[in-house]
Amino acid sequence: MAIQWAGLSPELLIQLDRDREQPLRSQLEAAIRSAIREGRLAAGERLPSSRELARDLGVSRGLVQECYGQLLSEGYLDSRVGSATRVAGGAVPTPASTGPARTGPARTGPARTGPASTGPAMVPAAPAVRKATGPPLIADFKSGVPDLASFPRGDWAWATQQACRTTASADFDYGNPRGSDSLRQVLAGYLRRVRASAAAPGDLIICTGYAQGLALVLRVLASHGIRTVAFEDPGYGSDDISATVRAAGVSAVHVPVDGKGLDVAALAASGARAVVATPAHQSPTGVVLTPERRHALVDWARRGDGFLIEDDYDSEFRYDREPVGMVQGLAPDRVFAIGTVSKALAPALRIGWVLAPPAFTGAVAQEKEIADRGTPVLDQLALALLLESGRYDRHLRRMRTIYAARRAALVDALAGHAPRARLTGLAAGFHGVLHLPGPAGEQDVVDAARHRSVGLYPMRSYRSSSSPAPPQLVLGFGNVSEHAVRAGIAAVADLLA
Ligand SMILES: Cc1ncc(COP(=O)(O)O)c(C=O)c1O
Repeated sequence: MAIQWAGLSPELLIQLDRDREQPLRSQLEAAIRSAIREGRLAAGERLPSSRELARDLGVSRGLVQECYGQLLSEGYLDSRVGSATRVAGGAVPTPASTGPARTGPARTGPARTGPASTGPAMVPAAPAVRKATGPPLIADFKSGVPDLASFPRGDWAWATQQACRTTASADFDYGNPRGSDSLRQVLAGYLRRVRASAAAPGDLIICTGYAQGLALVLRVLASHGIRTVAFEDPGYGSDDISATVRAAGVSAVHVPVDGKGLDVAALAASGARAVVATPAHQSPTGVVLTPERRHALVDWARRGDGFLIEDDYDSEFRYDREPVGMVQGLAPDRVFAIGTVSKALAPALRIGWVLAPPAFTGAVAQEKEIADRGTPVLDQLALALLLESGRYDRHLRRMRTIYAARRAALVDALAGHAPRARLTGLAAGFHGVLHLPGPAGEQDVVDAARHRSVGLYPMRSYRSSSSPAPPQLVLGFGNVSEHAVRAGIAAVADLLA
């Protein structure tokens, strides 16, 4: 039996037992975690350098570095370039799979529960959460933002670490600009399984989100002779998107959306040979494109040598309707499907993909190579591991429950406080449209709500023209807690009635 002890500070001992089955690295991590939890290591306290600790324990320096890296990503430790590794200020370990409640540094933020994790236990407190001291009274109903506090930090830390450890040295060279083979393989399977797409790994190009995917596809279509591209009205079209359209050298026309989705007859009359659309959950109206319209759209593309650019951004989150697959599955030769992890995981990751018609994959890959030589490989491998291990699916299941509860809170709060205001478009995703019943204009309501610290957003900013339209608000509830949904709606109830 060879137990080794090393002093980190006069009153702290680390025990490594080489006869136990538990790997040394996980013993070391567990020991430091419990030292922090039990208060034996206080916030701000300096840890030995990895070299010192490795020497004291008789283990490799790499093992200690990996252990520190893990605890850094879990939020237990803090490290700045050029200075020592320290216990994070207000480190807030939350209960996870390592087990029992413990004593330790006081929790400084509201309690949060982490994802049930089969990987290492870790749900660090985000600095933003720590600041909150009482029940939040501010609600920001901005659409398109997922629950940022629910990002699966533990799973992502596990996956990046695994990827880093297992990647062959040769893979640190410039890679295939189309993306990592293993991600494309596992993603194609996922898209076939979950999104009913006709995805083959060879038709996927990994990119840095929808924004880049759209830029690549528009450039490819422009060099194929397509000069006019249609966009949904109302539709998702931030200033960035308009700049992307201009930079690709194409011009935009707008095609109306009605209760059945994109108006395909109006599209045919527009003269555009490509259209950007959100069939599974129209952004922002929330309408699902009807089966007849899906077929009409495919017919339009086939008859006129046209193309659909399918923005499949949030349809994994569906509630009270059958899942709707991608149009891409009906016409893989006519559809560029663009996906993103911005809603499913977080916008900060900047990972997305283009599923291109086989005849265009080479051209999209070439544009990707010109743009940036390829998406960061370790991130791609981490995503592949999340998908492969089932952690991605598990996260989606967990988020569906959270969003469903927020959606129910929104419906309830509106029914209680503003029963005349109709809420539509809630079949999927995490935003809906509120139809204002009163005479007040969208902007007046938005401005008055601002004064009460509630963020509301007008439909006007999604419309292409300023011609008169019934007043509506687009209400996002992805990043608003149930409590904040209720408090926010109560605070502006009279404005919505
Ligand atoms: C309709 C729609 N598509 C795509 C995106 C995501 O874009 P990206 O992958 O560039 O983050 C958003 C983000 O808000 C969106 O609302």
